Amino acid sequence: MSQIQVNEIASDDEVVMEKIRQLRLSVWRSVFQVADDLTDACEEFDRFAKHWGAFDGDRIVGSARLTIHDQMTDVPDSEVYEGILSHLSGPIGSLNRLVVAASHQGRGIGRELDMVRIDAAQKAGCAWIVGSTPVGKRRVLQLQSLGFISKGKGRDYSGPKWYSSQQSEVMVLTL
Ligand SMILES: CC(C)(COP(=O)(O)OP(=O)(O)OC[C@H]1O[C@@H](n2cnc3c(N)ncnc32)[C@H](O)[C@@H]1OP(=O)(O)O)[C@@H](O)C(=O)NCCC(=O)NCCS
Repeated sequence: MSQIQVNEIASDDEVVMEKIRQLRLSVWRSVFQVADDLTDACEEFDRFAKHWGAFDGDRIVGSARLTIHDQMTDVPDSEVYEGILSHLSGPIGSLNRLVVAASHQGRGIGRELDMVRIDAAQKAGCAWIVGSTPVGKRRVLQLQSLGFISKGKGRDYSGPKWYSSQQSEVMVLTL
């Protein structure tokens, strides 16, 4: 983490937000070939989300998003939580769109981007933070190490989303 700087990004900073979208695309393509078009309903949350970027000099090498909601039906990918965490009431933090460039993975940047979002959700008065991850056990373990509890397999993602065919794990952190 030595020369890496994590900064909050204004959602109306179109220059940096475009770099974030390009980073998401390149990272997700390296994980799922089908991630060729990230323009789905969940990207629309970008406009009112809080964003953070990890910078190596001028280059953005990591990014992550937090949204805050009054009810579970409003969170991104709300369908996966149905009957599992639907009872939570707001304010609820939702973690989404965490990516770290392949060249910079394994150096603690993902963890830092998680911690800054947990801190922001806490300061915003959230009682819970939820997340659903489609990438498997390593990410689940990372979230558990930050205090998240696994609630098991999520309901199916609905389309149109490029990750609709993936199985998710539903996670929740009580603040
Ligand atoms: C998951 C990801 C953000 C982790 O970022 P990172 O900066 O490498 O993570 P850190 O260095 O802070 O922590 C490393 C931990 O992250 C997790 N991790 C690392 N690479 C991972 C990967 N490819 N997939 C899932 N989890 C991963 C593991 O828990 C790892 O700990 P371990 O090495 O003891 O297994 C990064 O690998 C990535 O961008 N992956 C592709 C996109 C993605 O899966 N996003 C998360 C969606 S929920």
